[in-house]
Amino acid sequence: MMDMCSLFCADFWRKLLVMAVLTIISRASASRGVSVTIPAAVKIMDTVTLHCKYDLEGEPLYTVKWYKGSKEFYRYIPKELPNTQMFPLPGIMVDMQKSSSNKVVLKNVQLEVSGRYKCEVSSDAPNFYTYMESGYMYVIDVPVDDPILRMDKEILDTGYRLKGNCSAPSSYPPANITWLLNGKNINGSYLKRLQPPDPFSKTSSSSTKRTPAISISGIELEIDENTFHGGKMRLSCVASIFNLYRRERDLVLEESRPRPRPSSVLGTRDASASGDMSPSIKEKLSTLLLITIIFIIR
Ligand SMILES: *[C@@H]1O[C@H](CO)[C@@H](O)[C@H](O)[C@H]1NC(C)=O
Ligand SMILES: *[C@@H]1O[C@H](CO)[C@@H](O)[C@H](O)[C@H]1NC(C)=O
Ligand SMILES: *[C@@H]1O[C@H](CO)[C@@H](O)[C@H](O)[C@H]1NC(C)=O
Repeated sequence: MMDMCSLFCADFWRKLLVMAVLTIISRASASRGVSVTIPAAVKIMDTVTLHCKYDLEGEPLYTVKWYKGSKEFYRYIPKELPNTQMFPLPGIMVDMQKSSSNKVVLKNVQLEVSGRYKCEVSSDAPNFYTYMESGYMYVIDVPVDDPILRMDKEILDTGYRLKGNCSAPSSYPPANITWLLNGKNINGSYLKRLQPPDPFSKTSSSSTKRTPAISISGIELEIDENTFHGGKMRLSCVASIFNLYRRERDLVLEESRPRPRPSSVLGTRDASASGDMSPSIKEKLSTLLLITIIFIIR
């Protein structure tokens, strides 16, 4: 009795283990079966190619289907004639000549073409495996304007708390803003996104998602002796929208009373010197001058 149970139990657990391993393998191959290449962002009016590569590991192909969100818009069936079918979706114009089993070409893309694209590949009888992968694509109306950089002062003293902001033109999605101080990245102190009043949004339905917005990043900097290099500092703001838009604005701000350069080491560490040479240095210099003169006369 005991023996039978242990035998049964061992067998049971072995079977369970095999099943679990098989499940894991089939999951892994499901994610290996198909891979899509979908650009993260494209310009309005562009022609865009979405690629779908698949490996059915010897199984015959049944269909390749493309979806935007949950709606199918393109289908490829090798066994049927014609091989391809298109289902109308707002804004989507498939170039049927250029689309095939591995890619779909969208012509003249408009803003509403932004969304999640999925490629679903099924194998034929007897297994009917289905593999899928998706990616999000933004269609962007790339702004023509530059960002605007505003600081509250352009000639400063150490100890001053400099404030200002950089605003990127309206876009969807809103631009990212980064800051550089003398060429090194620094963090902004806040980021605001403002929706400009849209003269065309009479209908409530159009003002749901995908509303363009202005990005404004603020900065606050405590100015100290290390901020300036040779009496100047360079502040830059970079606005970017994926790899489609990247504009930089620079501002060179000046120290109101430049201190002696750190390279003329003598006396600069003396905080009270306020730009003047300390008396002891004057003494040393005049002695040096005197000796030089004596040498020249001789
Ligand atoms: C941006 O900075 C300027 C100059 O300091 C200031 O006048 C303006 O109010 C700031 N705007 C915002 C939205 O922070
Ligand atoms: C900027 O902010 C990030 C995240 O908040 C932080 O990890 C990083 O250290 C900050 N960088 C600087 C230069 O302050
Ligand atoms: C903004 O930056 C983040 C982080 O680098 C990135 O994931 C995102 O795509 C960027 N957004 C835009 C509009 O460029």
